Amino acid sequence: MGIPILRTVAELRSIVAVWRRDGLKVAVVPTMGALHEGHLSLVRAALAKADRVIVTLFVNPKQFNSPADLIAYPRTEYDDAVKLAPLGAHILYAPDAADVYPQGFATTVSVSAVSEGLCGAFRPGHFDGVATVVTKLFLQTGADMAFFGEKDFQQLHVVRRLVRDLDIPIDIIASPTVREDDGLAMSSRNARLSAAERSAAPRLAEILFETARRLDRDHCIDRVLVEARQAILAAGFSQVEYLDLRADEDVAIIAAPNRPARLLVAAWLGQTRLIDNVEVWSPRGRVEGFVEAAAAA
Ligand code: PAJ
Repeated sequence: MGIPILRTVAELRSIVAVWRRDGLKVAVVPTMGALHEGHLSLVRAALAKADRVIVTLFVNPKQFNSPADLIAYPRTEYDDAVKLAPLGAHILYAPDAADVYPQGFATTVSVSAVSEGLCGAFRPGHFDGVATVVTKLFLQTGADMAFFGEKDFQQLHVVRRLVRDLDIPIDIIASPTVREDDGLAMSSRNARLSAAERSAAPRLAEILFETARRLDRDHCIDRVLVEARQAILAAGFSQVEYLDLRADEDVAIIAAPNRPARLLVAAWLGQTRLIDNVEVWSPRGRVEGFVEAAAAA
């Protein structure tokens, strides 16, 4: 059986009201469609925790800072519905832009601090667009929990912050980045890579992982990051927008290896902008090793 596709808030609310009356836990997985295994992993995680799962599909014009990027964004609703049905997701909510942003729409949700720097510095207005649409989706679905990927690490923290600041009663649950066999982080944008670019692309993740390992041993952070940038350019990328080490818990700037961190990157390969991030000094992995090494030094 196919997955029901809903277009209006009214239909969505009437179904969720029945679920709530029956005491069911509801999850939402916000997406812009062109679904791949990364998205589907969030849907599976949601199905494991909630009784009912709403997947939203909306290519949000407010978060695209380039009109050309918005036009080129893949739209594959039928294929997306076909991928979701066998997983057992309960509703695909795919509203029209005219209903999400009707004439006269005048409100922006803007999260400062965590939205600044990294992608925020290179995509003006992007996180305002994300925060505005995510707030609407949370209020429209009334979900108990929402699932986001660590792939978009800064976005995850923007969403955590806005939920806390606005007292939205929803749990934000993060899932790890899903990668292709060669390490490339899955992304709807990967489809735009030419064959030659696709074979160069996995170097980005390789360099990130190598650099995270180096940072474990070599605490001259600035030098390690300069060399990693050079390696990314040598791999065929035309520009590195940023390669930064940030605190894992809130993406704050850190200058010393004194707490769990993330290494985050955005780089251009031809006409395609790729982002990725990996853990550094993780409490789940290497941080104990790091503390021991630092103690021995
Ligand atoms: P989109 O890029 O479609 O991503 C939807 C969700 O899937 C996000 O939480 C993202 O982090 C996650 N995701 C994407 N690639 C992933 C991967 N390789 N592994 C794990 N998770 C992955 O992010 C957005 O849409 C939009 O900004 C949205 C939140 C829907 C607001 O419009």
